[in-house]
Amino acid sequence: MCGIVGYIGPQDATPIILNGLKRLEYRGYDSAGLAVLNGDRIEIRRDAGKLSRLAELVNGSPISGSPGIGHTRWATHGAPSARNAHPHLGASGRVVVVHNGIVENFLELKDELTAEGTQFNSDTDTETIVHLVEHHQAAGLDLTEAARRTFNQILGAHGIVLLSADEPDKIVCARIGNAGGVVIGLGENENFIASDIPAILEHTRKVIFLESRQMAVITKEAVRIETLEGLPVQPEVHTIAWDAVSAEKGEYRHFMQKEIHEQVRALTDTLAGRVDFNDGRIRLPELNLTPELAKRIRRIYITACGTAAYAGMVGKTLIEKIARVPVEVVIGSEFRYSDPIIDEDTVVLAISQSGETADTLAAMEEGRKKGAVLWSIVNAIGSQAMRMADGYISMQTGPEIGVASTKAFTAPLVDQYMLAILLADLRGTIDDATRRALVADLRLVPDLVSRTLNSEPEIERVALKLKDIHSCLYLGRGINMPIAYEGALKLKEISYIHAEGYPAGEMKHGPIALIDEDMPVLCLTPKDPWHEKMISQIQQAKARGGVVIAVATEGDELVEGLADHILWVPETPWMLSPVVTVIPLQILAYHIAAIRGLDVDQPRNLAKSVTVE
Ligand code: M6R
Repeated sequence: MCGIVGYIGPQDATPIILNGLKRLEYRGYDSAGLAVLNGDRIEIRRDAGKLSRLAELVNGSPISGSPGIGHTRWATHGAPSARNAHPHLGASGRVVVVHNGIVENFLELKDELTAEGTQFNSDTDTETIVHLVEHHQAAGLDLTEAARRTFNQILGAHGIVLLSADEPDKIVCARIGNAGGVVIGLGENENFIASDIPAILEHTRKVIFLESRQMAVITKEAVRIETLEGLPVQPEVHTIAWDAVSAEKGEYRHFMQKEIHEQVRALTDTLAGRVDFNDGRIRLPELNLTPELAKRIRRIYITACGTAAYAGMVGKTLIEKIARVPVEVVIGSEFRYSDPIIDEDTVVLAISQSGETADTLAAMEEGRKKGAVLWSIVNAIGSQAMRMADGYISMQTGPEIGVASTKAFTAPLVDQYMLAILLADLRGTIDDATRRALVADLRLVPDLVSRTLNSEPEIERVALKLKDIHSCLYLGRGINMPIAYEGALKLKEISYIHAEGYPAGEMKHGPIALIDEDMPVLCLTPKDPWHEKMISQIQQAKARGGVVIAVATEGDELVEGLADHILWVPETPWMLSPVVTVIPLQILAYHIAAIRGLDVDQPRNLAKSVTVE
């Protein structure tokens, strides 16, 4: 999963693909490859390592021709290696695919294909796609229809590009869910495909964004777009301004909105290279967590500020539940004044998007002074929090520009879930079946987030109804209690509406006095172990005339019968539910602020990186 570039037209595809992939390099990757139709044959060059390695291969053994497709990969299924790098060729050598995303049902599909005699040449989930296409071609379908049938068979969120030596005049691509975009660049007698605009901006400013469950058949003269069900689509052609900032914003009004939508891709990248779904194990090499260290850890302090601290609160539940290590969360600005009890068996884990937040760094220094093992979960590569740490997990979200943090909130939730599993595994506090089940659940995350994002239009309608409120109470319990804090923070920082996150069970000890028809109450009520308790919370708020907005699991008729507005989320394993429940709260805050005409990306008085105490 990472970058995709494709080209069809009179020029040689190879340099266009190499340059395009270069522009996507900032997203990170561990292998790269390209496939070009050279006369009647598809030729492939690919290897583990950087693009310079791919360029070496191409220089040593040049390929020319068109169309062509290329890819940079972060490993999810199988190690970074030449055989696992994309593109993947079918058994006939006549069809080739590149792909971003995770084929959730790949084990079932692989079993079916293997039973039919298909031989797999890689450990990837992607290879199932090309074999399925060939399977349908063998039944008489052309590339477009074979691809359509395949796109309808695979589960999960995907960006996919295919070409076939038997139909050299076209490239077929699709977007399913939000695993990164598929952008089609329109040229004169040539067309381009990419996962992100910067890859093709030097060739064209006219682009079409594929929506979820749309596919395109691209020739050099034309682009035909249809739904996966075969209905024609009249696409909107966008003209991208030449400045890099507008290009980065793409189809979105604000960076915050773009970054909310990038979460599917950010979370897919978060799993890439760390989770091996084949053996059900987690690998976090930069954390430097040895079995010896894992066994001697007696306590973990998580320290962070703002949104990052709320991510840490979710992490506390995960680490304590899965790895059975006591965790305390102390906000960065208090840590050094709280005289924390630290020895060499204590870990101080800092979470920071920027890696430069002064209070978080001061907490790390305090940990260092007292002899703790220092870890960090950081987005900005090379930042101070990354450099200071004995081990780190780098969030794979790409740059976050909106001041209101979104993708740098959900990524550390998944990072901490993985950390908890690894820690439990190394300490021997988890059995094999539980570990495998917890790891298998990770496979669902990108698609669950993608499906939640699809509710944006309904959430926008709720935002319209709430745009003039003066205050809002956010209530949650258990693992979703920090999501109440985070939802309230999102609303207050960009819409300037007073909002308070509160542990729902504490309501009766004071805040209930505030509830009347002018104080909406937002209740986090997914189907988690605290569901029943939250139902009674909704009833109490309704009994006092409160307007209730509920985040609820699809199909929950009980909540539907009680709440005034519902923000639906798909059913999710409870330990991963915060990754999903926070999404509607981000979208709600975003639309309320946008409707109020505020500067969403740079709210007043706030800085993206707070480098002073
Ligand atoms: O860069 P950091 O993650 O260390 O920043 C911490 C907070 O300043 C940050 O999360 C802040 O609360 C955001 N504006 C929240 O959206």
